[in-house]
Amino acid sequence: MGGKFIIMGGAPLEGEVSANGAKNSALPIMAAALLAKGKSVLYGIPRLRDVMVMKKVLECLGAKVNYNGRCMEIDATRLNNHKVPPDLTRKLRASNLVMGALLARLRKVTAAYPGGCDIGSRPIDLHLKGFQLLGAEVEEKGGYIHAELKNPPVGSEIYLDYPSVGATENIMLAAVFSRGKTVIRNAAREPEIIDLQNFLNKLGAKVRGAGMGTIVIEGVEELKETEHEIIPDRIEAATLLVAGAITGGRVKVNNIIPEHMEAVIVKLREAGVEVAVQHNSIEVTCDETIGAVNIKTLPYPGFPTDMQPQMMALMSLAEGTSIISETIFENRFKHALELNRMGADITVEGRIAVVKGVPKLSGTFVEATDLRAGAALILAGLAAEDITVVENIRHIDRGYEDIDLKLRALGAKIVRVDG
Ligand code: EPZ
Repeated sequence: MGGKFIIMGGAPLEGEVSANGAKNSALPIMAAALLAKGKSVLYGIPRLRDVMVMKKVLECLGAKVNYNGRCMEIDATRLNNHKVPPDLTRKLRASNLVMGALLARLRKVTAAYPGGCDIGSRPIDLHLKGFQLLGAEVEEKGGYIHAELKNPPVGSEIYLDYPSVGATENIMLAAVFSRGKTVIRNAAREPEIIDLQNFLNKLGAKVRGAGMGTIVIEGVEELKETEHEIIPDRIEAATLLVAGAITGGRVKVNNIIPEHMEAVIVKLREAGVEVAVQHNSIEVTCDETIGAVNIKTLPYPGFPTDMQPQMMALMSLAEGTSIISETIFENRFKHALELNRMGADITVEGRIAVVKGVPKLSGTFVEATDLRAGAALILAGLAAEDITVVENIRHIDRGYEDIDLKLRALGAKIVRVDG
């Protein structure tokens, strides 16, 4: 996955930067736009590889999509294909989020199994169980899933064994036209779920309870066109704050919703970072050694797994030993090996990583194995002595828009070399 970043570490980052719209809000809302026989206008859609793949998926299904890098128009009036292109599913797991929308709108969907990825097996059993409880017949054959509603969908009580973000979103979409009431219990509470609920209700759906753990959907006949602004990306924002902390600098991130970042704010403060929170911005100042803190990733509002690699990079330079427990994904420590190659002292045992802080990291060649691991390696490179080369940065471009330009605006010495 070509391309690399060359980073000269050591410069404390100083200045202000703005967060983009959230990737993990844009993707489910793009899928939800398929539900409406009309045009949805979405503002704040970030320019990401994952967004471009999802755009292609929507177009293959019959939607017309115009995108100018910020505003996206999706006209799903003529949705005429229920088969999700398998090559795109392989490129973007989150393309499985169109399944619920196709089931609701066309009453059938065929999709390839979205295989595992670098952080875990990532099954979709909870998504499929939800579809079945809504009345769909689900058949899995030869690596493909076919789900079909032979009769109009009926509302149902659905309990999620695990508060899966994707399963919650897919079932919300599948249920919007179901007769009667659908209740999703033990639903994920992420801010992106609330953003999806707000978008669905603007389309004319009747959804309530997002963010509270139990979501109730009253079926409606049809949805109409609308417009919506995507919430800011809390993970991109937190990554930029850690960039300020790990370089001993002073960084302010604007255009954010601080309430979405409580767990990260608490942990940065515990580590001794000064964190000033304003209405829609956060500023970190770090002019002394970071102290070791323990991290345990949990479903929202717990500490986000998507910030675990970045915090591991920070903790690798902390005073003391940190215990990092990854409870969400079974294989999300690959960045530890790369950090150790930079001189970190991290021992991984299953879902636990023991991070003994070291006084410095040294630049070398490292490889991004997934989106957030890649971000962690950039952060380590910013703090390391000498030059760090992060390879396979197309992983990073999946979820960060021009992260090199944003960091350069803060004084980082980072250049992109396309591979
Ligand atoms: C979403 O993935 C995010 N992706 C991930 O962000 C994020 O890490 C994850 O939620 C957790 O917060 C998008 O929103 C596009 P899950 P998702 O279903 O929906 C298990 C990033 O870097 N599970 O909550 O796939 C699963 O194996 C990405 O931006 C089942 O067992 O996450 C995992 O262990 C990475 N059965 C756990 O739940 C299912 O049917 C969490 O998965 C579904 C999930």
